Amino acid sequence: MKAIIVTDQAAGLAGMKLAERPEPRAAINDVIVRIHASGFVPTEMDWPSTWTDRRGRDRTPSIPGHELAGVVSALGYGTTGLSIGQRVFGLADWHRDGTLAECVAIEARNLAPLPGDVDFTVGASLPISGLTAWQGLFQHGRLQAGQSVLAHGAAGAVGSMVTQLAAEAGAYVIGTGRAADRQKALDFGAKEFVDLDKDALSDVGGVDLVFDVIGGDIGKRSARLVRTGGTLVSVVGPPVPRPEDGRAIDFVVEADRAQLGEIAERVRDGRLRTNIGTVAPIEEAVAALNPTGRRKGKTIIRVRA
Ligand SMILES: NC(=O)c1ccc[n+]([C@@H]2O[C@H](COP(=O)([O-])OP(=O)(O)OC[C@H]3O[C@@H](n4cnc5c(N)ncnc54)[C@H](OP(=O)(O)O)[C@@H]3O)[C@@H](O)[C@H]2O)c1
Repeated sequence: MKAIIVTDQAAGLAGMKLAERPEPRAAINDVIVRIHASGFVPTEMDWPSTWTDRRGRDRTPSIPGHELAGVVSALGYGTTGLSIGQRVFGLADWHRDGTLAECVAIEARNLAPLPGDVDFTVGASLPISGLTAWQGLFQHGRLQAGQSVLAHGAAGAVGSMVTQLAAEAGAYVIGTGRAADRQKALDFGAKEFVDLDKDALSDVGGVDLVFDVIGGDIGKRSARLVRTGGTLVSVVGPPVPRPEDGRAIDFVVEADRAQLGEIAERVRDGRLRTNIGTVAPIEEAVAALNPTGRRKGKTIIRVRA
């Protein structure tokens, strides 16, 4: 099958190559999915799981990409809950070959049915950003209606989902990012926008929940903005410092079929808009995933027409 592979961590994104790889085999409780569209997070080249298996052994050449939408083509031993021919979308295991390929072997529990009226391209754009936002806001952040949320990178892949889901849940959302993203963040439902290059973050005052997708100095300054009893949720590593009178959580997103279903329902009825910037066929994936300019939304690789 055709796949994008990486073999050299030092080469970063530029080391991606289009290659022929053997078709994967379904292990216990796996399905094989014929992939129609694949999503990729640009930081994947920095993740240890891109390069090693769970025992820390080299697993290159590895296939990156961890989001997919496609059709189930085979079932592994003992697999239940999904059937051959079913449209699905979901989140692939970090330590196994991923989704920038014509097929993937994936545990059935990592997938959810993709409704017939949700395009594969849209389906592949949702799992990581949608689940990360959902889990950060509702599971880890315990967000309640009427609370305030500071959504960093509000025009980005995760931030745009955070902004929309928090606004829908009745929170007052303050988005942040670069000046050029102000209108995009407001369109996703932020009530205010902080230009991180020009505005003073401290002027935001106190908020109930900070959702940090940036880290570094922005993360450090954000801890002070958490109100007593509030939460700093980070997806870019453990927050240092932690809020004085609040909670700090860092987590890695997990697959969840019920939450994927909630996300798909919202996309169907228009409550949630995806944030796709570029769609390219797999033959052009290497160039599309190595853009020369600034990305304006997620890049989705269309593996089958
Ligand atoms: N732990 C987890 O489970 C998990 C899950 C998903 C993502 N992540 C991580 O979360 C981060 C964000 O992912 P993403 O897919 O949402 O990325 P993304 O689409 O690039 O969004 C990040 C947004 O933040 C903005 N931004 C970044 N640094 C900034 C700065 N210093 N000042 C102003 N704006 C800034 C970016 O603008 P520019 O494009 O101009 O930089 C972009 O709009 C990545 O590090 C990713 O690895 C972690």
